[in-house]
Amino acid sequence: MRLYILSRRATLYTTRRFTKTARMLGHVARVLDPLGCMLHTARGRHTIQYHEKQLRLPEAVLPRIGGPSAAYSLAVLQQFEARGVCVVNRSEAIARARDKLRSLQLLAEQHVPIAATVMTRDPSRLAESIDMVGGPPVILKLLQGTQGIGVILADSYQTAKETLEALWQLGQNILIQKFISESKGRDIRALVVGQKVVTAMRRVARAGEFRSNIHRGGVGEPLELGDRQREVALKAAAVMGLEVAGVDLLEGEDGPIVTEVNSSPGFEGLEKASGLDIAREIIEHAVRLVDSSE
Ligand SMILES: Nc1ncnc2c1ncn2[C@@H]1O[C@H](COP(=O)(O)OP(=O)(O)O)[C@@H](O)[C@H]1O
Ligand SMILES: [Mg+2]
Repeated sequence: MRLYILSRRATLYTTRRFTKTARMLGHVARVLDPLGCMLHTARGRHTIQYHEKQLRLPEAVLPRIGGPSAAYSLAVLQQFEARGVCVVNRSEAIARARDKLRSLQLLAEQHVPIAATVMTRDPSRLAESIDMVGGPPVILKLLQGTQGIGVILADSYQTAKETLEALWQLGQNILIQKFISESKGRDIRALVVGQKVVTAMRRVARAGEFRSNIHRGGVGEPLELGDRQREVALKAAAVMGLEVAGVDLLEGEDGPIVTEVNSSPGFEGLEKASGLDIAREIIEHAVRLVDSSE
């Protein structure tokens, strides 16, 4: 099978693992820089040129979408979809997952446990909004942050007010979210592929940090999920429509709470914690999807 990995840099861990494993499994694998793709759309016609050459269509595309070029990369992915190429994940599901409020709305609708969240732009109702999610300290969150950047712990009404005023001034919409204090500095990352939890890890933040992201210095240790955690992770991925999903769970008093569902989960930390070949799991799943669509 011919497989393209849509990624800004061929040297990134997850991208490298995909290419290497796909080749080892006998596939033709190639990394495409989305910004090198020119999309030509005319009546009844969608073509893609890559660095001045017409691109031969693959059987499947594995997108790694994030950073400042995410919108362009999504457009490239849509062009592949328009040509009937199997993409894992689909663009619609990725766009949905990249918006934290949209994700929470969908998850809440389907009764997936989430932390109570308020969004407002009315400064006069700020104290009330904070009280609606349990009072300070509260979490303030950018709709589109990743790797822990854009997640703030505000320990008082005053800090929350000052932070929100600054961010509103910059045109940012912000979520005000209940701080799940019993899970401070730790969370769970579960990797879902197809309808299966492939592996999971507990992430523990470094000292003095409440965000447990690996990019913020958190450390991952392998974890066998409990039944309820597994059920919630699978449901979250399904609600978002993601074939491959990194589901983040806080450990609340009353059970797991989903904070977000990542549509391009990197798996360096997970492969190191578990010793599993996650690239292979994902590629084999893509092959199954291609086979079932033929
Ligand atoms: N409501 C919350 N209560 C406690 N900790 C939280 C909460 N939301 C996020 N965190 C912490 O912050 C980290 C980053 O939050 P997350 O919503 O996953 O954003 P990002 O996309 O930046 O990873 C989480 O892994 C968790 O450790
Ligand atoms: Mg996260």
